[in-house]
Amino acid sequence: MIPPFTAALPDDEIATVLAAVEQILRSGRLVLGEHTEEFEAAVADMAGSRNAIAVNSGSTALEIIFRALDVRDRVVLVPANTNYATAAAAVHAGARVQLYDSGLYPDVADVERRLTPAVAAVVVVHIGGHLCPELPRLAGLCERVGVPLIEDAAHAHGSELAGTPAGGFGYAAAWSFFATKVVSTGGEGGAITTNDPDLNRMARMYRDQGKTRDGRHVVAGNSWRMTEIGAATGRAQLEHLGRDIAARRTVIDRYAAQLDGHGLTFPTVREGSQVSGHKCVALLDPGIDRQRLRCVAAEQGVELARGVYEAPLHAQPVFADLNIGDSFPAADDFAARHICLPLWRGMEIGTVGRVIDAVTTSIQSIM
Ligand SMILES: Cc1ncc(COP(=O)(O)O)c(C=O)c1O
Repeated sequence: MIPPFTAALPDDEIATVLAAVEQILRSGRLVLGEHTEEFEAAVADMAGSRNAIAVNSGSTALEIIFRALDVRDRVVLVPANTNYATAAAAVHAGARVQLYDSGLYPDVADVERRLTPAVAAVVVVHIGGHLCPELPRLAGLCERVGVPLIEDAAHAHGSELAGTPAGGFGYAAAWSFFATKVVSTGGEGGAITTNDPDLNRMARMYRDQGKTRDGRHVVAGNSWRMTEIGAATGRAQLEHLGRDIAARRTVIDRYAAQLDGHGLTFPTVREGSQVSGHKCVALLDPGIDRQRLRCVAAEQGVELARGVYEAPLHAQPVFADLNIGDSFPAADDFAARHICLPLWRGMEIGTVGRVIDAVTTSIQSIM
């Protein structure tokens, strides 16, 4: 069975990480040391930002940004199509979450309708690593009303829109280095990137129990640090980010060349832009039953994973009381119609061919 994803590291990276692990264990410095600093420099470079602050998860990165903005009792606009963590982090920081409509991309007109100077923050999520072509317009709208735009870049390591990297559009970006992401720090991990020196300083306090350098607890932080071993693992992967993304893109382009127009439509990645390749997202033609496709593809030896995301936030029981009475047609349509094809770092081209054959046969048999 071809899996949707596998997280295996190549041999050269395993050797680099093992050497770093030995050095870390012998040094006795297990957190907030030189590996965290090097990792942060590499993350800042990836995002084109002045500062990166490593933390223990993407959820934490979001929560720290919201806490530093003091969103308590204020509205944070969150897309209906995203991971639970995007909204949950705002709730944990005390915000009132209001959803706006979004599919693969945000419905910028819907954000505009809901945006007032009283809003504490707008969050945009780069689903599957695709940057919305309207991001500059969205950033401009936020700037005009003086509301910070936060990029949830959990899927978007190395993505670019017309030469600007993910992380380069908002006031701050939150990154996840969870096991399934384009870069992982060995299981769990996250980071904040920003050009704002105040957020940089605050985030460093929040991740370390709200402490100043002289040990006074001044904000409601937590034990949200990244381990040195995690940082060294992520650093080894960031070293090859460009190469890995190019390889993922080759797989996506091959899928699109063979399958686009045959029951599936792939998002366009414009000239001069790049997609991280976190997910290979495609839309099924109306009338193709996704569940049947999954079953037939599985019989052909290909497992099609859950999408990003098949239940939007307004359909999640925990958020049942958000935006009562509103409808989210873009989110509902995207949730019902997209699939994610198998994709991982180092996927062999022969395996890609087997997926293409299996998906082609499966779609033909159910159309
Ligand atoms: C869009 C998005 N935001 C935030 C997160 C949270 O990241 P983490 O799992 O590292 O807490 C995820 C994780 O899957 C995600 O996909």
